[in-house]
Amino acid sequence: MKVLVVGGGGREHALCWAIAASPLLTRLWCAPGNAGIAEVAECVPIGAEAIPALVAFAREHAVDLVVAGPEGPLTLGLADACAAAGIKCFGPSAAAAQLEGSKAFTRAVADAAGAPGARWARFTDPAAARAYIRDQGAPIVVKADGLAAGKGVVVAATIAEADAAIADIMESRIHGDSGATVLVEECLVGQEVSFFALCDGTHAIALGAAQDHKRAFDGDTGPNTGGMGAYSPPPIFTDALRDDVMARIVSPVLSEMARRGTPFRGVLFAGLMITPDGPRLIEFNVRFGDPECQALMVRLRSDLLPALLAACDGELASFDLRWEPLHALVVVMAARGYPGSYSKGSEIRGLERAAQIPGVQVFHAGTARREDGALVATGGRVLGITATGTTLAEAQAAAYAAVDAIDWPGGFCRRDIGWRAL
Ligand code: AMP
Ligand code: GLY
Repeated sequence: MKVLVVGGGGREHALCWAIAASPLLTRLWCAPGNAGIAEVAECVPIGAEAIPALVAFAREHAVDLVVAGPEGPLTLGLADACAAAGIKCFGPSAAAAQLEGSKAFTRAVADAAGAPGARWARFTDPAAARAYIRDQGAPIVVKADGLAAGKGVVVAATIAEADAAIADIMESRIHGDSGATVLVEECLVGQEVSFFALCDGTHAIALGAAQDHKRAFDGDTGPNTGGMGAYSPPPIFTDALRDDVMARIVSPVLSEMARRGTPFRGVLFAGLMITPDGPRLIEFNVRFGDPECQALMVRLRSDLLPALLAACDGELASFDLRWEPLHALVVVMAARGYPGSYSKGSEIRGLERAAQIPGVQVFHAGTARREDGALVATGGRVLGITATGTTLAEAQAAAYAAVDAIDWPGGFCRRDIGWRAL
């Protein structure tokens, strides 16, 4: 099989790494990829959101399967364009990708499916939003409806903070048109878990769960980021919770999407709050999490490629995935300054030494090769140092031993990934 993976971050490196191990694979490309991905796939200089160019490449090279990493290309219709060209694509149609593209859509689908979530209301008028906030009281959550690069959510501890969020999002439009509509939600309290299910439009199978660390600094302080580390499986996420989430959230939502004529195929990422009253849905994403994907891929024993194909072909009903009985932990190394402004081009050394530590896999998120062959940082999140162990403590020790073997003065990482579970 010839496969094209779309994207160029740590998640896509982990996907390429897993797909490259498949005996079914004959050729693997990644667009645009990065320096780490180049070790397992042929990188193609096409942007992840250049839909016509991606489809043209896939057609020209007789690609059998396109695998979408990020949500951007999916909300822009990559899967639809592939379908029109007769090419299989792992990932939902643009219509089904609205589960990530629009929070109001998600809440409406979740309510129709009876999936437990936060109490919510939707506003296009700032005054009405402010009145509702007063009525409900704080703490309360204010969200831009559309995509806002993960920055569109304000968990407001006071009414004044919630008012300020309404001003920023709806009136100053700090996220552009994504803020034309806002959702105001009940503030859920508990531990967050990222849960992943592979879906074929009709059937879903559980892929597993992870917990990530969204804040930039130790002790879960500092600004929100795309994720500074993750571990899998989360000790709090029992098999009984998994079965409950599949039965009350994933399966009914899948049925509701099919009933609406927009069946969901791909990986459904449910952001959950594990509350004292059980799991509640916070949001859906229509792709793997990053860095959660890295922690899942190193635990997967089964061949990933047939699983992705079964999802495309509607054949998950009889599918089974095997996992290694291991714990995995990812430490993200980011450029100093991230998630604010940071410089690019600093040199990274010592990755070979890090990769030699038993159980360690280094996934690249934002790297490139300079002309002289040196590895340089090109993004905010730059490396995902991933390790497995028979215990989470062992995985954590291996990951930090690898971090310490890396010589990158321009980077930083959190030193406490996994603290909640240890
Ligand atoms: P989202 O972009 O919807 O994932 O929200 C980003 C983060 O905001 C989540 O990971 C949660 O930590 C927090 N959050 C979102 N909605 C709620 C809610 N209803 N209650 C509490 N926290 C929330
Ligand atoms: N790490 C969370 C995400 O990928 O959205």
